[in-house]
Amino acid sequence: MIKPRKVAIVGVGHVGSHVASALVTQGLVSELVLIDTDKAKAEAHGADLADTVCWMPHSARVWAGDYSDCGDAELMIIAASGPIFKEDRLEELAGSLDTMDEIAPHILSCGFQGLVMVITNPVDVVASYLRRKLNFGPNRVFGSGTTLDSGRLRRNIAQALGVSPMSVEAWVLGEHGDSQMIPWSRVTVGGQPLDMVPGGLQLDRQDIWERTMKAGWSIVLGKGSTEFGIGAAAAQIVRAIFFDEKRILPVSVLLEDVCGQKGIHASVPVCLGASGPEKVCLPVLTEEEKQAFIRSCQRLKEFEPLLLNR
Ligand code: LAC
Repeated sequence: MIKPRKVAIVGVGHVGSHVASALVTQGLVSELVLIDTDKAKAEAHGADLADTVCWMPHSARVWAGDYSDCGDAELMIIAASGPIFKEDRLEELAGSLDTMDEIAPHILSCGFQGLVMVITNPVDVVASYLRRKLNFGPNRVFGSGTTLDSGRLRRNIAQALGVSPMSVEAWVLGEHGDSQMIPWSRVTVGGQPLDMVPGGLQLDRQDIWERTMKAGWSIVLGKGSTEFGIGAAAAQIVRAIFFDEKRILPVSVLLEDVCGQKGIHASVPVCLGASGPEKVCLPVLTEEEKQAFIRSCQRLKEFEPLLLNR
């Protein structure tokens, strides 16, 4: 029998519900389980989404369920969080770790064998913590990481140059947070290195870095949460895995010696296929870029003692 593409989303607030909507709208799932401590909200989202299915390009069964529905899921997406960040995602850490303490035993006891994608912030630290708690292999727990920031970067570069973001290839790497870095030497526009594109050398790169890094915050200030961007970014990651695309996206994985960095989760370009994060595809970086990446990893390492002492 062909296995259905089954996903469970834990936490259906603004982020989880928009991820759910993107998965159904894009026809990426056959079965979608919505789990939330607010069962009435999960049920309402489930019904609302199920109402869209007759107009979709692909059928999907969506329901508000429980961990007992997750034993045969291929992917669990963790989007549960406490109050969301005001200035720095790291403010959410304590609440998010408590939430992981609650969720982890359920994941372990339901017989789940699949992959776990963490979105809960601060995503790198939370992914690292949850992986250790679950004692899953290095590639089974990863974070959505800087896929979202990379979309924001592409938008910012595209706007400055008057082209489509789809014609910009650019990565944000390191922390999904304030220490994130951009390997500018690897940015291409329509296949051309950025420095060779008209206007490319004149771009205010510091300003673009800052606007990219602060984009989440400015959206939260305006409407209380981010949701569409993360929904689309998460769906792209799920598509890469379910279609075994081998697409390279920057997701937060356990580093095993990237620029000498190991033992923490941080975003690097990763080839995504049916087994999840399959291999790191780090581009050639300049010395300055390597140092910026290492600084970002060092920022994330500062949280290790806190994780180990819990
Ligand atoms: C953002 C949140 C999801 O950057 O971290 O939009």
